[in-house]
Amino acid sequence: MAASSSFSSPMIQIQSLILLFLLLLPSSSSSSSSSNSTTIYEVLKSKGLPVGLLPKGITKYSMNDSSGEFEVMMEEPCNAKFENEVHYDSSIKGTLEYGQIGKLSGISAQELFLWFPVKGIRVDVPNSGVIHFDVGVADKQFAVSIFEAPPECTPQPDAGESDQSLWSVW
Ligand SMILES: *[C@@H]1O[C@H](CO)[C@@H](O)[C@H](O)[C@H]1NC(C)=O
Ligand SMILES: *[C@@H]1O[C@H](CO)[C@@H](O)[C@H](O)[C@H]1NC(C)=O
Repeated sequence: MAASSSFSSPMIQIQSLILLFLLLLPSSSSSSSSSNSTTIYEVLKSKGLPVGLLPKGITKYSMNDSSGEFEVMMEEPCNAKFENEVHYDSSIKGTLEYGQIGKLSGISAQELFLWFPVKGIRVDVPNSGVIHFDVGVADKQFAVSIFEAPPECTPQPDAGESDQSLWSVW
């Protein structure tokens, strides 16, 4: 009895050391690998949407895979030129489903010198070459090909409070 108990204590110490290593190793390696994950552009592509819907250089976003809710965080608000001028806020939120983005906020499109918030974006499935922008008052149609590549985006402050009230009439 006495012999066996004096044998077991160093064994337990070694086992707990190994256990400690096993616990520490995965946590340190997973934190470094998690910085390299899917880009938001790859997410758009996987949803059948053109990558050019969002401007170049986005590295920060969050995505809830079960609900499709996402948020894109940009360094600063900016404007990009397609057929129309499009303004991106520094935070863009919405819900991603296959072929469409719903409950969108943070993107507005210029039309006849007025800015309209884009509430949803949808492509036809199967792809007809047309993309639909829901700007509340209308369904604006563009060629999907306009949005093939993420555009350069020129830093542009969000419309101030005073401007906002002017546009809110619309
Ligand atoms: C990880 O991300 C960085 C910056 O985005 C990139 O330069 C690098 O090539 C990526 N590494 C891997 C293994 O994907
Ligand atoms: C993701 O969405 C699901 C379903 O709507 C919700 O239950 C869950 O709380 C969300 N997770 C996060 C981290 O927001």
